[in-house]
Amino acid sequence: MTNSKNLAETKAQPDQASAGTAVFSPALAPQEGVAAATELFREAFGGEPDGVWYAPGRVNIIGEHTDYNGGLALPIALPHRAHLALRRRKDRTIRLVSPQTRDSVDVLDLDAIGPKGSPGEVRHWNAYVAGVAWALERDGLGPLSGFDAALYSCVPLGGGLSSSAALECATAVALDEVCGLGLAGSAQEPDDAGRARLVASCVRAENEMAGAPTGGMDQSASMRCAAGHALLLDCRTGEAEQVPFDLAVDGLALLVIDTKAKHSLVDGQYASRRASCEKAAALLGVELLADLGVPDLEKALSRLAASGAEDAPVLVQRTRHVVTEIQRTRDLVDLLRDGRPLAGDKLRTAGALLDASHESLRVDYEVSCPELDVAVEAARAAGAHGARMTGGGFGGSAIALVDADAVDAVARAVVAAYAAQGFTAPAFLDALPSAPAGRLA
Ligand code: GLA
Repeated sequence: MTNSKNLAETKAQPDQASAGTAVFSPALAPQEGVAAATELFREAFGGEPDGVWYAPGRVNIIGEHTDYNGGLALPIALPHRAHLALRRRKDRTIRLVSPQTRDSVDVLDLDAIGPKGSPGEVRHWNAYVAGVAWALERDGLGPLSGFDAALYSCVPLGGGLSSSAALECATAVALDEVCGLGLAGSAQEPDDAGRARLVASCVRAENEMAGAPTGGMDQSASMRCAAGHALLLDCRTGEAEQVPFDLAVDGLALLVIDTKAKHSLVDGQYASRRASCEKAAALLGVELLADLGVPDLEKALSRLAASGAEDAPVLVQRTRHVVTEIQRTRDLVDLLRDGRPLAGDKLRTAGALLDASHESLRVDYEVSCPELDVAVEAARAAGAHGARMTGGGFGGSAIALVDADAVDAVARAVVAAYAAQGFTAPAFLDALPSAPAGRLA
């Protein structure tokens, strides 16, 4: 084990990168994750953890910036996970360690921590772990006790793949078990309603403790996805449905391109998109933009344009993205559900939906960036059936729907396009729809 931010990255990078080939960030095998987290735990705290829990990162296939508008999203869980070796304490102290901080254990007091901006503000990744304990108690699931925990994650940090939600959800399933909340069930036999309650506390931790006003899609994916499936999430009702998503049977694969352009959800851009949507909904007299459908759209846009709001043109763009993106999500799910192989016209339509999503996010929602645009253009030029940015944007990752035997060629084309632009080399992940948060040991 190294001192680095990410074992998978350090293993994969050196020679391949200098040779100009595509570098894949592999997921840790479950036993590797357990061993790494347990070793760190023993070193930092002595003795054995009560167990090792994990939660996955995610990629969203379509339905972007729809969650906080009450719309639809369609994420899958990645095989890349945050692992948390945790032991319950009898007092209210929380001690945390990760490979980056292994020389100095962080010590917090569950009775003294509080939201961002308050005297009890918790810094960095600690907010995602201690914040979940704090939020569970605020949500009436306490009192909990303190704990010692060692984190070992192979979800690329800042890659737009929900490394923070993975941490929150790993903490939630660990505390669910050691504190006897009994809400999560197991990864194999999940209690979906119980998990939805844990999701709410994870979102609260992210919103209030970390100060990122995110919408909940990431935590729902990490907690409620199933292997081999995408999760159709209705963010208004909280209902979730498993949609079979096994690209390999159709000779396809989903390539994730981590642009290495660091994205942030706390720098004001994400919050400003959300605020515009809320303003547009208020001007239109609806609770959430998801209350509008495509048939209402032109009329709604005209009303916004004539509203006299000084940012009316921006509100028109944001609203158009949200309403059309929800429809694209519905259309893709209808296609995936029809039982026919994803090939021919059906594949072309699916790819076109991904492409249209990217255009809408680039032009109307203005959350793309040059690295994301170059990634999707290069992937398409190299034969991808469709490609789009995924997640919050402003950096982070893109996805490309490709033939399984074209993964390497498409990845190499993206590497070459990045080199030509003088961008930092991207990394790649194989996005196999994987299991939700659970316990490993
Ligand atoms: C981030 C947020 C999510 C969601 C996406 C955009 O990942 O955490 O809640 O809003 O951006 O779809």
